[in-house]
Amino acid sequence: MAPIRNARVLFNSIPTGYPEPGKTTIYDAMTTIDIDNVSLNGGFVLKTLVLSIDPLMRGMMCSPETIAYPRPYLVGQPIIGLGIGVIVRSENADVKVGDHLYGFLTHEEYSVWSNLDWLRVIKREHGLPWSVYLGAAGMPGMTAYMAWKEHSKAKKGDVAFVTTGGGPVGSFVIQLAKLDGMKVIASAGSEEKVKFMKDIGADVAFNYKTTSTEEILQKEGPIDMYWDNVGGETLDLALKYASVGAQFIECGMISGYNGSQKPIENLFLVIAKSISIQGIAVARLEDKYRTGFYDNVPQKIARGEIKYSEEIVKGLEGVGEALLSVQKGTNKAKVIILVADEQE
Ligand SMILES: NC(=O)c1ccc[n+]([C@@H]2O[C@H](COP(=O)([O-])OP(=O)(O)OC[C@H]3O[C@@H](n4cnc5c(N)ncnc54)[C@H](OP(=O)(O)O)[C@@H]3O)[C@@H](O)[C@H]2O)c1
Repeated sequence: MAPIRNARVLFNSIPTGYPEPGKTTIYDAMTTIDIDNVSLNGGFVLKTLVLSIDPLMRGMMCSPETIAYPRPYLVGQPIIGLGIGVIVRSENADVKVGDHLYGFLTHEEYSVWSNLDWLRVIKREHGLPWSVYLGAAGMPGMTAYMAWKEHSKAKKGDVAFVTTGGGPVGSFVIQLAKLDGMKVIASAGSEEKVKFMKDIGADVAFNYKTTSTEEILQKEGPIDMYWDNVGGETLDLALKYASVGAQFIECGMISGYNGSQKPIENLFLVIAKSISIQGIAVARLEDKYRTGFYDNVPQKIARGEIKYSEEIVKGLEGVGEALLSVQKGTNKAKVIILVADEQE
């Protein structure tokens, strides 16, 4: 086969605020790859199928000496993000053509790998599309499911408050809280996301951009559990309207990812109300819960017992805008980049 296009998304400059398409990242369609003849040295060629746009990608847009998970992007190199690809050529005895791999992939149509250090084989089951294995059945779903299993002190009738409830982590948490009999207050930044939160069972769903979070918490609280995805002033309000003995699960603080975050004024209430605060990192829970997650969650999604919402963007050329939309909240749902259909 003659060399074919191998488009990619390169990291171009470190942003000071929101990532700017064409400046922070650039789409490059000039590179080619000769799949049959590219030197593998015992490695394999992966064809990228789907890529996830996650909030954590903003954390990798930093200077090389910064500690970032899993690592800072390098200017001039393809960005990385969670994704799934299929092997199209292999010299590695552990994987064969047709195997699917999941992990932090480079944003390229095809990539050459020397080993499986960043990747693992993944199976698609129950007729679910690959995109779902990056959302509700992927890292965001794992975050909700695993942290809930490990830390939740939910009691029937308790009140939970969940932020970014229209996103993949928050929407999963809403459903877990409802399964445990909680009353759920959930916020998001658009009417479309509010509707989705109501559809999946939130008792009180509101748009924090048009409705006062304080008024809602005053009326519907006090809250016994706060699942924090945003930090800043919302976290401050959650402290103010928390019950004695409330549990805070600190999952994300996106209000500070693209600039400074409003300082917390009510921290003393942690003492006054005996609030417990648990920070979570899914990577530290994965070994313990991965098998249980894959045994349970994909089939529950397939049966419609866990609902999800996704926004599919076709082609790597949409990555720059997608990165911005997830940071700003102009996305409609979990953003997936569809790079290639398997049959193409
Ligand atoms: N600890 C872990 O291991 C772990 C793992 C995965 C994710 N996370 C964190 O969990 C959170 C949710 O992640 P996700 O994957 O489910 O994606 P997500 O909810 O879709 O996160 C992006 C959303 O955050 C909202 N947002 C942006 N700026 C905001 C602000 N200033 N105030 C309030 N909301 C804002 C926007 O939605 P709106 O329309 O609602 O504004 C945006 O769509 C993120 O903070 C992420 O970093 C943590």
